[in-house]
Amino acid sequence: MKERIVSGMRPTGKLHLGHYLGVIQNWAELQHKYESFFFVADWHALTTKYDKTETLKQDTIDVVIDWLASGIDPNIATIYVQSLIPEIAELNIYLSMVTPQNWVERDPCLKDMVKIIHTKEGTNSQVSYGLLGYPVLMSTDIMMFNATGVPVGIDQVAHIEITRDITRRFNNIYKTDFFNEAKPILNHCSLICGLDGNKMGKSFQNDIKISDTEEVTAKRIMSAITDRSRMRKDDPGHPDECQVAFKYWEIFGDKSQVDTVRCECEKGLRGCADCKRQLGALINEKFAPIREKRRYYEAHPQEVEEIIREGSKKARTEAQKVLSQVREIIGMY
Ligand code: TRP
Ligand code: SF4
Repeated sequence: MKERIVSGMRPTGKLHLGHYLGVIQNWAELQHKYESFFFVADWHALTTKYDKTETLKQDTIDVVIDWLASGIDPNIATIYVQSLIPEIAELNIYLSMVTPQNWVERDPCLKDMVKIIHTKEGTNSQVSYGLLGYPVLMSTDIMMFNATGVPVGIDQVAHIEITRDITRRFNNIYKTDFFNEAKPILNHCSLICGLDGNKMGKSFQNDIKISDTEEVTAKRIMSAITDRSRMRKDDPGHPDECQVAFKYWEIFGDKSQVDTVRCECEKGLRGCADCKRQLGALINEKFAPIREKRRYYEAHPQEVEEIIREGSKKARTEAQKVLSQVREIIGMY
């Protein structure tokens, strides 16, 4: 029997290359090795955006389309939407009862979110009860399927630790070994930065989307920062100081391409504009099949809907099995 993994993403809309390289590519590999559950965490989105739900549905669909285009195979992995599994809400209640208040309050990820929220104005500047429960809800996502592994980025590891703490506490309180202690599965790819050298993010407008056209991609790449000390194209360049463009070459190019770029740059035989034109073409070539697949799913929304419904149905059946055991363990009516 294959070990089980669970992972989710908040519905942030169309995904960028950072998501692709950092998360989805990893999932696409792991799905062959593990029994995989991948979901859109729409309840988690509500913890901070409960008053901005106009795009929630479409954002959810867009995320799933990006996954499908990127090779997450609904015949292999189970793709579902969190809010279509009401069992998660029930398990969340049980887990919230056994979780000490100070465990959620000390969650470092939550502390960061709270800081951001306090700088906002309006109804959304309050930290809601739901947001405080973020780490418990995330633990529920994982425990709902009694997973043993959770593929996440390093920023989510603190949450997995809370999940392990809650697991142990549940098992202790109810004198059971029912829940597995899930371990984070970290990926080893290098993090791709945004076009301006900062972390790639939608809100920083420094990203390239999986769904961007070739024209947009080519144009966006031209704005990537390069070795700033270089004035003319025949000045010798410093690839290691070329924080974005050369980094992208290292991520997307093969060894001989990277060697050529380095050598020509250092000798002043390669202008930055030409260099980035080539880089844009390379990225477009890499993503051409993914984008083609994306266009297919965009043109067949019913098929996407069907995949979400089917996956959620399957996930729900599994969740029901776990939940009925949990009710029994706790001693519910
Ligand atoms: N908190 C995760 C993020 O922001 C999303 C998430 C919610 C998740 N529940 C999860 C990830 C369970 C892994 C497992 O990226
Ligand atoms: Fe960077 Fe290429 Fe310009 Fe060299 S030629 S500084 S690698 S963009």
